[in-house]
Amino acid sequence: MEIISIVKQMQTHSEQTRQLDHTIGFVPTMGFLHEGHLSLIHDARKRADEVVVSIFVNPTQFGPGEDLEAYPRDLPRDIELIRQEGADIVFTPKPEELYPKNFQTFVELEKLPAHLCGISRPTHFRGVATVVTKLFNIVKPHVAVFGQKDFQQLAVIRRMVQDLNFDIEIIGAPTVREPDGLAMSSRNTYLTNEQRVSGLSLYQSLQKVQELLKNGIKNTEELIKAASELIQSYPETQIDYVSICDPDTLEDLPIIDRPALMALAVKVGKTRLIDNMILNP
Ligand code: PAF
Repeated sequence: MEIISIVKQMQTHSEQTRQLDHTIGFVPTMGFLHEGHLSLIHDARKRADEVVVSIFVNPTQFGPGEDLEAYPRDLPRDIELIRQEGADIVFTPKPEELYPKNFQTFVELEKLPAHLCGISRPTHFRGVATVVTKLFNIVKPHVAVFGQKDFQQLAVIRRMVQDLNFDIEIIGAPTVREPDGLAMSSRNTYLTNEQRVSGLSLYQSLQKVQELLKNGIKNTEELIKAASELIQSYPETQIDYVSICDPDTLEDLPIIDRPALMALAVKVGKTRLIDNMILNP
């Protein structure tokens, strides 16, 4: 496995891979890998001749006061995990090369970021769309794999790829959970033992709503109320949003009469957790 940190070297390598008619599968990450990331690498491995994993804590997707500095990092451990998973290249660009002085070009979507996480993180998806565009231009993948845990991010990237005619197949891979249901996230490491228990309220509320729906309750106001009450019954939880919406537009649905996305973000202590599930009537 090769480690590449220079943009030009990565571009040249990818160009050569393409000239050999080999396909490139790409998994962009911010590092501090867990089983969820490894499942994305595993998926990419099945789809492409060469697998590139990037590790870059992207400053433009963090808002003021968010956890950019505190974001967990462990490059040697990440590299070892990626090696074990059978990837070919780890791309670790430097912030000063991706965002040189006087950087001023951003990719911004008009509608999708106005919902869900975009309400409390108004510049987040602009940062994600920009860095993913840059990484696509550097790694030149044929296929890229993203986790469905960040459902809105996946929707934003799919839309951007279509709107900007990127010739890249986007794959959404299922959320990987701890045995008790907590969705895996690098940010879970911030949680104390007590907060981790409160973190289970996200998955439990998704399951509760699924159960209520099975029993015939389709009114989303009622379902959101039940989910919110469950979450609030746990200590240190503060709901950012609980939404039941159209999976394509992310616009709220009053009633579940077709497949709907239930998505939620909850602060547990200072840690913001997200989760989601598709609800079928
Ligand atoms: O999902 C992530 O880890 C990040 O948002 C991504 C896609 C690597 C962009 O920085």
